[in-house]
Parts: sequence; structure tokens; C-alpha cells
Amino acid sequence: MARHLITSAIPYINGIKHLGNLVGSQLPADLYARYNRGRGHEVMFICATDEHGTPAELAAKKAGQPVAVFCAEMHEVQADIARRFGLSFDHFGRSSSERNHVLTQHFAGKLDENGHIREVEEKQVYSIDDGRFLPDRYIEGTCPNCGYDKARGDQCENCTKQLDPTDLINPRSAISGSTNLEVRATKHLYLKQRAMRDQIETWIDSKDDWPILTTSIAKKWLNDGDGLQDRGITRDLDWGIPVKKGDQPWPGMEGKVFYVWFDAPIEYIAATAEGTDAKGQPDSEWRRWWRLDEGAEDVTYTQFMGKDNVPFHTLSFPATIIGSNEPWKLVDYIKSFNYLTYDGGQFSTSQGRGVFMDQALSILPADYWRWWLCPTRPNRATASSPGTISSNR
Ligand code: 2FM
Ligand code: ZN
Repeated sequence: MARHLITSAIPYINGIKHLGNLVGSQLPADLYARYNRGRGHEVMFICATDEHGTPAELAAKKAGQPVAVFCAEMHEVQADIARRFGLSFDHFGRSSSERNHVLTQHFAGKLDENGHIREVEEKQVYSIDDGRFLPDRYIEGTCPNCGYDKARGDQCENCTKQLDPTDLINPRSAISGSTNLEVRATKHLYLKQRAMRDQIETWIDSKDDWPILTTSIAKKWLNDGDGLQDRGITRDLDWGIPVKKGDQPWPGMEGKVFYVWFDAPIEYIAATAEGTDAKGQPDSEWRRWWRLDEGAEDVTYTQFMGKDNVPFHTLSFPATIIGSNEPWKLVDYIKSFNYLTYDGGQFSTSQGRGVFMDQALSILPADYWRWWLCPTRPNRATASSPGTISSNR
């Protein structure tokens, strides 16, 4: 009996997910989990809600709720829809859990101990009208790489390039639309990914069976321009995991939180622990999936995600794991997906565009959608069926 650890990219908490999210991560991960269970293998299938960062804050603001209340309610909504769609997670966790706080602060402490963190006095966009810094999704503008005019401050959805808010052309506040912006200095922690570039490349090169979509995106960002860049892993936000070195304060970082993309993949580990906690099992139960020195040597770990998530799973998260110098399990296979489109455009949670999971279930039972979406998903597309849902059909 083999042991399979399977994770689906954890959906942002900002709203009910659309069929594009479902078909690009949770549904194929579920099929793979069911297939492996059916073969008699031991499976740990993990997903969670991604509750930090600007998507959560902006959605809570729109709903007129405190962000913690919004997240707790929306987690239940997403968990219920996942159940009704037959997604057979062994645990559906929350990235705001205590387990994730402790693990994220643990990894940051280890990275610092091993010399992989540097403090940077950097320039951040400040909105005079909103009276605050505008990290990540709090700012929108035109992508300097591809010209897409709704690029966000942290990443362009269109071309997947990771961005800094100061890179955007014609920037505007996502809160008020204000263009009355200025650049101010603030101090942040950076993960020194650049120094780990060769190690990461060697690891990626050793995966000769990975899909081309995965390796081509990873290689692109490894070799783009000056190569792999160091990334800021902290933010000037209220909601998130407070910046600490393990359980110790981090001088100079008071009032700051870790960047959502630093803590989100760590939640794969934390959610496994949340699941075994919920069953009253000892720590050894989750650790045997994740620690090579505690039983994970024989685990095969497969991740599922949409293509925009690939840089974080092939570069940043492995840099966190490798840089910790501790024997954590690294992913064995990354299955990534192109976007399912809707009437030729992208589905979008924040813009309310597409067919959403709750609407879908009000039209047809889950199995119809599951059966139809599998051959429709973009990576199975043929020339006459290019992974597009048409509202006229
Ligand atoms: O794209 C998304 O919906 C992100 N919330 C995925 C995060 S996956 C991870 F790293 F946990
Ligand atoms: Zn772009």
C-alpha cells in the first residue's frame, strides 16, 4: 500500500468559488484522491481556505463585516459547498488557524537563523486619500510586462508575472479608485530566494516527468531578466499572522504581518495538523505525512493548482522548505492547469464573472457538473473545444 499526500490550492476566502477554480485544482485533486483510495492506497487529501491578505480584507469591507467574522462565516459556506460537490477532503482547514500561526512563525525563525532573510527599507505606495499603504491587491494598474489593465500589485493574472505595487503603470487604489498616491519608505523582511536559485533549479531539473506547463512557468521566472528575485514576505496590514521569529518578537517588525503567499502554502502542513487535532490524534499522525525523519520518506506528494499559483509552488514555497534546513517533505509532482474561460474571458471572483459553485448546484446535481467539467477542462481541450464555457449553451 502506497501513501499519497494530495493538496489542492487553497481558495481565497473572498467569495464563493467559480467553476474555473473548481476545475483547476479541487476537482482534479479530488479525482486523484478517490482514484488512489480506490486502488487501496493510504491517502491524505488536504485543502483549506486562504484567509489572509488583501483579498480577505477587501471582501470583508465590501460585506460590511469585521474580517475575522467574515472569514469564519465564509469558511463554513465554502466547506458546505465543497461537501455538496462531493469533494472528499480529509480535512478542509483555515489558514488563520493557530497551527498555521505557529508553523509560519517557526519557518520564518528558521529561515532567519539560516541567513535567508534580510531586512529591506523599501518604498511602498501610500494612498493619501485612504490614509494607508496599498500593498498587493489594494492597488491596481497596467502590467508592465503584458499591458493587461487590471493587474494587481502582487501579480498579473494575465501573464502570471509576480509584481511589486511600484511596478504598475497608471496605478490606482483598489479601495477608493484614487490616483492621489505617493511612495513612502517602510521596513520589510525579504526571503533571499536569489541565493537559493541554483539549488531550486537543480531540484526542478530533477523532475523530468512534470507537465510542461509547470516547468515552463518555473523556468521562466528562474531565468526572467536578472533571474529569481528576493521577495518581500511581510506587509503593513492588520489582518494576518504577526511577524515573529518562532515564538519570539521580531524587533522592528511590530504591527506587521506575514505576506499571505508566505503563510498560505504552509497551511497545507498546518491543515493536516488541524485535521489530526480534530480527531484527537497525537502530533505523530500529521508529522508522518510531512517529516522525512518521522515517516514521510515513503510518501508521494502531489499538488494541484491553476497556472497563476505555479511560481509560488515551484519557487517560493520550496525556498521556504529548503531554507529551513529541516527535513520537511517537498512536493513530488505539480499538476497545473490553464484557465477555463467563460464566454472567451476569464472567470473572476472579485468581478463576479462566470458560473459560481452555488449557482451550478442550484441548476444540476454535482455529479452532472463533475462529469461535464472533467473533459471540458482546458488541459483536456481539443481544437474545437478549447476549455470555454459559453453562456449561450
Ligand atoms: O489562487 C488562490 O486562490 C490562492 N489562494 C491559492 C493559494 S495555494 C497555497 F499556496 F496555499
Ligand atoms: Zn501581465
